[in-house]
Amino acid sequence: MPDASPSARLLDWYDRHRRVLPWRAPPGVRQDPYRVWLSEVMLQQTTVVAVAGYFRAFTERWPTVHDLAATDLDAVLTAWAGLGYYARARNLHRCAQVVSRDLDGRFPEEEAALLALPGVGAYTAAAIAAIAFDRRATAVDGNIERVVSRLFALTDPLPGAKAKLKAHAATLVPDDRPGDHTQAMMDLGATVCTPRRPRCVLCPVVADCRARVAGIAEDLPAKAAKPVRPLRRGTAFWTLNPAGDVLLRRRPETGLLGGMMEVPSSDWRAEAPADALAWAPVRTDWRPLPGLVRHGFTHFELELTVVTGRAGPDWAAADGIWVSPDRLSDHAIPTVMRKVVRHALAHA
Ligand code: ADE
Repeated sequence: MPDASPSARLLDWYDRHRRVLPWRAPPGVRQDPYRVWLSEVMLQQTTVVAVAGYFRAFTERWPTVHDLAATDLDAVLTAWAGLGYYARARNLHRCAQVVSRDLDGRFPEEEAALLALPGVGAYTAAAIAAIAFDRRATAVDGNIERVVSRLFALTDPLPGAKAKLKAHAATLVPDDRPGDHTQAMMDLGATVCTPRRPRCVLCPVVADCRARVAGIAEDLPAKAAKPVRPLRRGTAFWTLNPAGDVLLRRRPETGLLGGMMEVPSSDWRAEAPADALAWAPVRTDWRPLPGLVRHGFTHFELELTVVTGRAGPDWAAADGIWVSPDRLSDHAIPTVMRKVVRHALAHA
């Protein structure tokens, strides 16, 4: 259909090549807003492949928004562990409670009302309005950014160019099937209009692609140089009691990894704290383990030295909980601390 509009060709392509994804309803079937919302919040964290398992686990355990609202936050944090950015999991739980309690379990259909929900930002509101309710909304995720920057040959660097990019994206959204259009753009970005070596010969809108004509598709979207993340250092205390259980502690509710469990550690500072042992959870002889644990947070890199020690007879007085190493997965342990656990189990 060479004469059809780009949106019509894109929809036609989507009908033939759409990806089968756990949160996607079969063609023509209305999607469950709860599943759309849950998947979109998760997909802001990581890739489609990584999300699939978490999405299945969440929806099997909490099939409706009422089920998720009724569970306790710690169960949500534990199930979320590994996805990162735990404030999202807290907001997810709060949002479920608002929808369940105040809205009778029904997600709003309007972008503006969706935006008022905890943890729902511009992207998620637009994605839910479009995908769950077939509203004409413009959701722009990383895939769509790439497709749009190429179609219109927008060379201004991200993130500064976001508003301009969204305005161009909005011109593409059709009145007919805006939800499928949104998902088609995502699929095109993920499978055809890829960051490197885009498969332009397979693209249903190649005839409209200005970047392709200019020979700059692979250079887009342009991105401003990221500031170098500073390095912080600290010491983590792998502490065992006489039964071989490990000491875990809950982090403060607010701040980084709020409310998650940790292997107790010192402050994390630019310089390795010379007085790291002042943070030790019990008094004992600490033995450093070889190597370091590294983890990248959004705003800094972390390097942890892991030390191990056996707590004495007063072990039960330590601040925290003692957990058998084979029961660690029952707890909300963030990725950085899972790395510490793996390191300690390999070297202790
Ligand atoms: N990335 C973000 N949201 C998505 C969705 N609904 N389908 C596929 N990829 C996505």
